[in-house]
Amino acid sequence: MVLEFDPAFIQAPEHRPKPAVAEAGSIPLIDLSPLHLLEQHGGPLVEGLEVLVAQVEAACREWGFFQVINHGVPPTVVERAWAASRGFFALPPEERRRVRRDEVNPLGYYEAENTKNVRDWKEVFDFVVHERAVIPSPGDAGGGVDRLIELRNQWPQLPHGFREALVEYAQATEELAFTLLELISLTLSLPPKRLHGFFKDQTSFIRLNHYPPCPSPHLALGVGRHKDSGALTILAQDDVGGLDVRRRSDGEWVRVKPIPNSFIINVGDIVQVWSNDKYESAEHRVSVNSERERFSIPFFFNPAHYVMVKPLAELVDEKNPANYEEFNWGEFFKTRKNSNFKKLDVENIQIYHFKKAK
Ligand code: OGA
Ligand code: NI
Repeated sequence: MVLEFDPAFIQAPEHRPKPAVAEAGSIPLIDLSPLHLLEQHGGPLVEGLEVLVAQVEAACREWGFFQVINHGVPPTVVERAWAASRGFFALPPEERRRVRRDEVNPLGYYEAENTKNVRDWKEVFDFVVHERAVIPSPGDAGGGVDRLIELRNQWPQLPHGFREALVEYAQATEELAFTLLELISLTLSLPPKRLHGFFKDQTSFIRLNHYPPCPSPHLALGVGRHKDSGALTILAQDDVGGLDVRRRSDGEWVRVKPIPNSFIINVGDIVQVWSNDKYESAEHRVSVNSERERFSIPFFFNPAHYVMVKPLAELVDEKNPANYEEFNWGEFFKTRKNSNFKKLDVENIQIYHFKKAK
């Protein structure tokens, strides 16, 4: 019997992965051990920190992607998060669906997400890092006065210790997120805590991704090509590999090599706008394979819903005018989420829609 591959998952020919994707020997690997110097930072940058800031600056400019080691998140914390994720996705489907996301609650389990209107070969579990954060109600159409909903996590009863492991992981990675934000501020010649205020009522969330083996990996993608819409993403991936980044120099897709005890960091759309295009959020996607399931855990570092995103005042002047109109983060996020939830006939919202005409 020949099983028909569900057409909902089939990518247009130009977006299908090639049989061999080059391995990215060249996405920068940055050792964060000089970070302890940040705590003592007051006046001019001390030497070790200066080198680190220069590395982060170059990586953000040239790739929008880098890997970090010696990042301060304890390996045991990461291990427990992996175990929680594997345990959850090993549960029977009806158990997973008990915490399924719906039109009212955008958090929990979901297995039918689309990226750019093509179904992704994956299942996910989403939870927010700070529960009382509010966002515009996902069910509402844009343009009007929004109702706000309070974000509430849906924790499954099983596997045991799931919630505790992930709350611990969230705390540790959130700390890293703020540290990276300080580094990015320094690369823009701003005071280290310049961007912290935007995250006071942050809408950050963590996603457990599970990519089951796929019978037609040449036709489908785990996640279709996209850019992350928030400020930064901190991604843990297992040893299977499959994350592909679009290289700026030639537009080729290159595979990010798994490195034990590392995180992959990528610049999101908000940093692109804040930096007025000094840094660009890089396009990426996930290829799947027919043999091994793959797991990954991205932390999407997102500001408060009420933040108006626009190029930072310090970085614009008469000679360098702002390249973007300001937009409201909550609205943007809601519109993007809605398009992942439903199939739409139109392209989903992108930051270039806010780009000013030259
Ligand atoms: C994402 C993403 C990459 C991965 O979920 O936005 O890009 O390796 N994931 O799973
Ligand atoms: Ni992504």
